[in-house]
Amino acid sequence: MLDSAEEVSRRAAELIAETVQRNPDCVLGLATGGTPLGTYGELIRMYREGAVSFSRVTTFNLDEYVGLSADHPQSYRYFMGVNLFQHVDLDSNRCHVPDGLAEDYDSYCTSYEDLLRKSGGIDLQLLGIGTDGHIGFNEPGSSLGSRTRLKGLTEQTVRDNARFFDSIEQVPRLAVTMGVGTILEARRILLIATGSNKAGAVRSFIEGPITSQITASALQLHPATTVLLDRAAADWLQRKEYYQHVERLQREIELRAREPENASSPKGRRRKGSTQK
Ligand code: PGA
Repeated sequence: MLDSAEEVSRRAAELIAETVQRNPDCVLGLATGGTPLGTYGELIRMYREGAVSFSRVTTFNLDEYVGLSADHPQSYRYFMGVNLFQHVDLDSNRCHVPDGLAEDYDSYCTSYEDLLRKSGGIDLQLLGIGTDGHIGFNEPGSSLGSRTRLKGLTEQTVRDNARFFDSIEQVPRLAVTMGVGTILEARRILLIATGSNKAGAVRSFIEGPITSQITASALQLHPATTVLLDRAAADWLQRKEYYQHVERLQREIELRAREPENASSPKGRRRKGSTQK
């Protein structure tokens, strides 16, 4: 849990940049929406300062509205161009956003999954969460084993996303989205959520049962998911104090791991590892 949405953006960008620095050829899964905007802003800043280069990185976006062309200002392809791709040294041939105008979605979705697999799979998948608990556009009731496919949006999602359009009538009702099963195959997942309107979904997916009614709850099965929340989004968590205690322990373990080798008395012996759920 972090103090502000800005801190969530900063920390998320640091984790993404660390992934790229460790493996310049990595594959990133990217998300759209209001929440990741700050993270992309931070990544652009880090790139401009010379702290990170994306020149060998491959990206796959989670989803796209059906019916919107790549140059439509509300399409997710356009969003990614304006908010990240145009500002960093990503190779446009390696930036993949699902096609909102595919003719045959069955074969298109299969080819998106094939491409993902051929690229080696996603090393780090960035996710937001919908107020209905969706990840990608995997609305309540989506199979937790689902793959990339078409999905009808709920009225709640249409209402939530209407703020990006001139009127609610213009919000597409259909989207192409990676499935929950596709997302779960990412080696590491980073979910970010900010603001009090996410507090209910956050509590449900972390502390509720695993259910297709809250598709983010499937992340409870994933061995390497990091969740970054601001205070407002974390507000309804019942075990908040415990999670903060675990965070402190984690920081201590990391600090100890960085201590010089000579701290080898039994008391000072370095412990490696992490506190994991
Ligand atoms: P938001 O959307 O970041 O615009 O709130 C998140 C999502 O629907 O995944």
